[in-house]
Amino acid sequence: MNLKEYLAARIARVEAALERWVPAETTPPATIHRAMRYSLFAGGKRVRPVLCIGAAEALGREPRGIEDAACTLEMIHTYSLIHDDLPALDNDDLRRGRPTNHVVFGEAMAILAGDSLLTLAFEVLGKLPHASNDVRARLVAELATASGTVGGMIGGQVHDIEGEGQPPTAELLEQIHRAKTGALLRGSVRMGAIYAGATDDELRSLSAFGEHVGLAFQIVDDILDVEESSETLGKTAGKDQAQQKITFPAVYGLDRSKVMAEHEREAARAAIQPFGVAAEPLLALADFIVKRKA
Ligand code: IPE
Ligand code: IPE
Ligand code: MG
Ligand code: MG
Ligand code: MG
Repeated sequence: MNLKEYLAARIARVEAALERWVPAETTPPATIHRAMRYSLFAGGKRVRPVLCIGAAEALGREPRGIEDAACTLEMIHTYSLIHDDLPALDNDDLRRGRPTNHVVFGEAMAILAGDSLLTLAFEVLGKLPHASNDVRARLVAELATASGTVGGMIGGQVHDIEGEGQPPTAELLEQIHRAKTGALLRGSVRMGAIYAGATDDELRSLSAFGEHVGLAFQIVDDILDVEESSETLGKTAGKDQAQQKITFPAVYGLDRSKVMAEHEREAARAAIQPFGVAAEPLLALADFIVKRKA
């Protein structure tokens, strides 16, 4: 399988879905729609929606309209980035190769742009054109849990912020990473599986894949922050050390962190072994997540 072509085809469907659901820049009040679109269409990798689609495909299904569900993950993710960059959180001025949302639109509008992407995600799930009410409800619960305070994205962000300057322990590190990034990646895979009508066993295997890939993703994000330039990353490099964040390189050093990312990749691959060739795109995505340079 050619990963580049695979990604391009899936991403095009996700972009089209986002384009359909997000109000046009000219829709009043125009400022908020400009701010939402500014960050949403800034060239993110779209890893989460593609994982969602890939999970459904691993089950041998290509359910109609899955890109509508998948694009809600990108709404939540982009909202989390806009808020992560705010002066009160990581205080970043570069994201996806552009000045951050609050630098361009001001803090008030950036906060509201994040809020609106969060709200829109759940509006879309409630209105999914090709899903049953049961699937809609399960997806709402799944996305809310993955983004929430107990083991979810916001919970992880809380630990991340409160961990600044604290002694970097292995226990706190894993807690932060599993929650702030891992939960939404795991949720992405689970949402694809739920949309495709997975059995409990299938959902368990795919959840394990998502969990390992999710942890690998943030280990690599930490490594790239140390090793790559701001230009390559499209976001400020070297930020974690400057802000005394609890990261894998801070706790284990770079070499051991790389081995650990590799270990998570292997575990992710093993979890979806039973799905055979249908899981090849997911395997390739796990490789991409660990080998990426940005
Ligand atoms: C960056 O996520 C923030 C983390 C959760 C580590 P991505 O690396 O997926 O960022 P984009 O979407 O490609 O910009
Ligand atoms: C952010 O983690 C995770 C979320 C946005 C929830 P980071 O703070 O490490 O992300 P980057 O490095 O700024 O993209
Ligand atoms: Mg952060
Ligand atoms: Mg950050
Ligand atoms: Mg980071």
